[in-house]
Amino acid sequence: MELYIDTANLDEIREASKWGIISGVTTNPSLLAKEGRKIDDVIDEIESLVDGPISVEVVSTRADEMVEEAREVAQIAENIAVKIPMTTGGLAAASRLEEDGIACNVTLVFSANQALMAARAGASFVSPFVGRLDDIGADGIGLIGDVADIFAYYDIDTRIISASLRHPKHVHESAMMGAHIATVPYDVLEKMASHPLTDSGLQKFLDDWKSMEGDL
Ligand code: G3P
Repeated sequence: MELYIDTANLDEIREASKWGIISGVTTNPSLLAKEGRKIDDVIDEIESLVDGPISVEVVSTRADEMVEEAREVAQIAENIAVKIPMTTGGLAAASRLEEDGIACNVTLVFSANQALMAARAGASFVSPFVGRLDDIGADGIGLIGDVADIFAYYDIDTRIISASLRHPKHVHESAMMGAHIATVPYDVLEKMASHPLTDSGLQKFLDDWKSMEGDL
């Protein structure tokens, strides 16, 4: 499973890219609004930090307008994947854009049927939102498993981006369920990397080494 970072914050992308683990970036209008930045302002730096796909979402809602906006977004950089909302208009837009060779990430997916439709529209990526399903007492990780099973059974090559991840267990479970990619907020990436036994074990090693040096 690949790891993408789910943020528009350049400091977070810069730091996480140093770890050598990030294969892509996902943004959305809320993440960009949080930074008070338009994608045009930050894309060059993001591109310099991460080689893989950078997801940028359209804000139009009608199919024709989404197609027009997506074509402009796709011009920003080589590795843009245009985020398209999972609506009937979004399906129409994604199928046209993919036919023109523009990679689409169909987002705001909350059911296996939505994921299947997005795949049949030719989407390069689908983004089921795990955390938001959990937030309403549904089974977000279960959805990842269902979509992964359906795509594997029918040999569908659309890639599953497990999204809206709230903690390290979501990432672990997304991998167990067969998601191709997990897009992870920076704070969750930090939590994934750390473990109290690693910290205490390292401290013990260093303490023992220092005490031995003292005896030499
Ligand atoms: O990539 C989608 C993700 O940013 C949504 O996360 O936490 O707003 O549900 P969240």
